[in-house]
Amino acid sequence: MSNDFLWVEKYRPRTIADTILPDGLKQTFQKIADTGELPNMLFTGTAGLGKTTVARALCNELDLDYIVINGSEEGNIDTLRTKIKQFASTVSLQGGYKVVILDEADYLNPTSFQPALRGFIEEFSNNCRFILTCNFKNRIITPLHSRCGVYEFNTTKKDMAQLASNFMQRVTTILEQEKIECDKKILADLIMKFAPDWRRILNELQRYSIGSNSIDSGILNNLADKNYDDLFVYLKSKDFKKMRNWVVNNIDTDASAIFRAIYDRMADKIAPQSIPQLVLILADYQYKNAFVADHELNVVACLTEVMANVQFN
Ligand SMILES: Nc1ncnc2c1ncn2[C@@H]1O[C@H](COP(=O)(O)OP(=O)(O)O)[C@@H](O)[C@H]1O
Ligand SMILES: [Mg+2]
Repeated sequence: MSNDFLWVEKYRPRTIADTILPDGLKQTFQKIADTGELPNMLFTGTAGLGKTTVARALCNELDLDYIVINGSEEGNIDTLRTKIKQFASTVSLQGGYKVVILDEADYLNPTSFQPALRGFIEEFSNNCRFILTCNFKNRIITPLHSRCGVYEFNTTKKDMAQLASNFMQRVTTILEQEKIECDKKILADLIMKFAPDWRRILNELQRYSIGSNSIDSGILNNLADKNYDDLFVYLKSKDFKKMRNWVVNNIDTDASAIFRAIYDRMADKIAPQSIPQLVLILADYQYKNAFVADHELNVVACLTEVMANVQFN
């Protein structure tokens, strides 16, 4: 799929003004965009809140020379020694700072990459700023916390209603542009169901609207449920090929969400005596998910183990 085909990319806010964030956080970033004073920063919070978006928007608005390194794909020390070092040690042609966005920094190796990064941040402080994003800040070593301003993206209940309403407006505009009909009530219910995972909401809408051009209440019965029903059928029949295909088509969201979704739906699908076994398998692969280089392979390995060891109803 080309990136422009995906709404989450096509409609990724390019400026801080376009992002939907709690007031205090938005003002903080707007100030950085206005003054150009960009500190080293660590963005933390669950998936789909706009961490990567803000990092890119700041670089974009300040017209800074930047690279994005994805920790889950390039989290090894060689990336730091070659690619990042090369980038950080040359002066920007645009003038101004260079910026290294270390996306999903929780996947950067905590015993090699992260300790070495700390030296890098100091060594290149004249020329280069670092923005780290992560879902779990406890996976980032303390010396990095103390070298960065830490920005919490997780929202409080208090902010939620306002954010959801702002996002509703944004999505309404997107649906108009895409010429997709949608009942306001259904849209509001969908947003309440998945907020504040803004990415998830856009993905669900796009997925549902392919081929239909309108959003109806079916989206709330959830494509996901039907989707997982299919998966259980493949697992039960030990259809490895279909299972693997399913994983490829469903890994666009956070891989760890797949383990959780199976856990939530297992009660009536799995033979009671197999449930403890399944819980242990899921927990094991959920844990590994934080460290593996290839998330697809890890999910397929998990489901292979499920096929081999679990009895279905
Ligand atoms: N705060 C936000 N305001 C507007 N859109 C958002 C926001 N957060 C996420 N989105 C939408 O979801 C997509 C994914 O967001 P992203 O910044 O990658 O999330 P994160 O890095 O926190 O997981 C964005 O491209 C955008 O379309
Ligand atoms: Mg991100």
